[in-house]
Formats: sequence, structure tokens, C-alpha cells
Amino acid sequence: MSVHIGAKKGEIADKILLPGDPLRAKYIAETFLEDPKCYNEVRGMLGYTGTYKGHKVSVQGTGMGMPSAAIYANELIREYDVKKLLRVGTCGAIREDVHVRDLVLAQAAATNSAIIRKDFPNFDFPQIADFDLLTTAYDIAKEKGFNIHVGNVLSNDTFYQDDLTEVFKLGKHGVLGVEMEAAVLYYLAAKYNVQALALMTVSDHMITGEETTSEERQTTFNEMMIVGLETLIK
Ligand code: ADE
Repeated sequence: MSVHIGAKKGEIADKILLPGDPLRAKYIAETFLEDPKCYNEVRGMLGYTGTYKGHKVSVQGTGMGMPSAAIYANELIREYDVKKLLRVGTCGAIREDVHVRDLVLAQAAATNSAIIRKDFPNFDFPQIADFDLLTTAYDIAKEKGFNIHVGNVLSNDTFYQDDLTEVFKLGKHGVLGVEMEAAVLYYLAAKYNVQALALMTVSDHMITGEETTSEERQTTFNEMMIVGLETLIK
């Protein structure tokens, strides 16, 4: 096992879905995977491996925020040889043309986190998605008729903040939404030469205050999961 994951080598697939919420990992495994086996319960951060359309796939909760997501991504890549990491989560919209329930594919992720700056104090290292995963997910979502946006997101270091001026300014500069994990996932993928993508559904609108009902969230979540799983096995 690694420090935070109680799986033996070989128990985790080289393709993985990464929801923030561990109970979402359980739901995904039990709803979409055949023969799911739980490989991790350390800190309640559930992880499962099963098969999807005959392909071995895992799903691992990461917790919220970049420090937590980085712990799991580091261990999955370095200790368990995971090669394709696909975050499935939610984001808050910061543009009028992005609506609740829409899908957002993070082509790139801006961040105010210090995690990357610590390694590259003199550069703004660009956090970008894997091109193959990005185009595959986009084609699948389009083919299924989902409302999908592709572009920059903000991986924010804090959920609660007093002043949103700069966040909304990013929206005016084309940033689609705010979430809290994509940038570090992209950074670690670049560092360890693996593939990563972040796919989000818009759960709340930070300008209009619009929110999804739990039923709507479940429907869009299921749609997103199909896009994620089909992308991983393609
Ligand atoms: N995830 C969903 N909504 C969010 C928000 N408003 N800020 C950060 N992460 C989010």
C-alpha cells in the first residue's frame, strides 16, 4: 500500500475516474462498473476497481482542493502506475453563457495555488489537458447531444472568499468556471508524463445564484460519467 491508499500493486487499473466525493466513487462503481471491488477505505476515501465494457477501470475519491487531490494523484501515478486520470466533478459558472447543468471540459486551468509556483517560482507554468483525452471527451459529449463548453477554468485555492472581483474578471477573460482540483492534476500529469483531463458539470452559477436541484445534479452527473468512462476506454 501507499501512504494514503490501502491497495496492493495491480489492484488499481491504469485508467481512473477521480470524483472529489468518496461517496460518488462508491455510486459510480456500483452503478456503472461490473464486479466492483473496494480497494481503499483509508480515511474514508473510497476507491474501487471493476470493469466497464470489458475494460478494467478504477474510481477513486480525491477529497476537495489541490493539496488533497495531489496526494491521491501522486500516489496513483507513482505507486500504482496509473496512466489516464480523469477528474469528474462540479464547478461554479462565472460567465453568462455557461449555464447550470452544462458540461465543462477544462482545456486548461489557471490557479492561485502555491503548489505549482513552489516548483516554478519564475514561470507561469501552463496547466493543460491531455489533447487526446480532451478531443475524445468532446466528440463523445457532442455525439450524445450534451451542452458542452471547452476552455479555461480556475482551480481556486479557497471555496469561501470575501472578494470575487478577480474571479469575475477571469470570467470576462473567457474562464468558464471555478473548481478546485484540475490545475494540480494537469501539473502532475505533465511532471510524470501521464494523461489527465478534468470534466465538470456546472452545479451553481456564481453570477446569477442559480443552483441545480439534487435530482438534476444526479441526471447530469450520470451523463458526465458516461462521457468519462467512454473517454477512458477509447
Ligand atoms: N465547485 C462547484 N461550485 C464551486 C464553486 N462555486 N467554487 C469552487 N468550486 C466549486
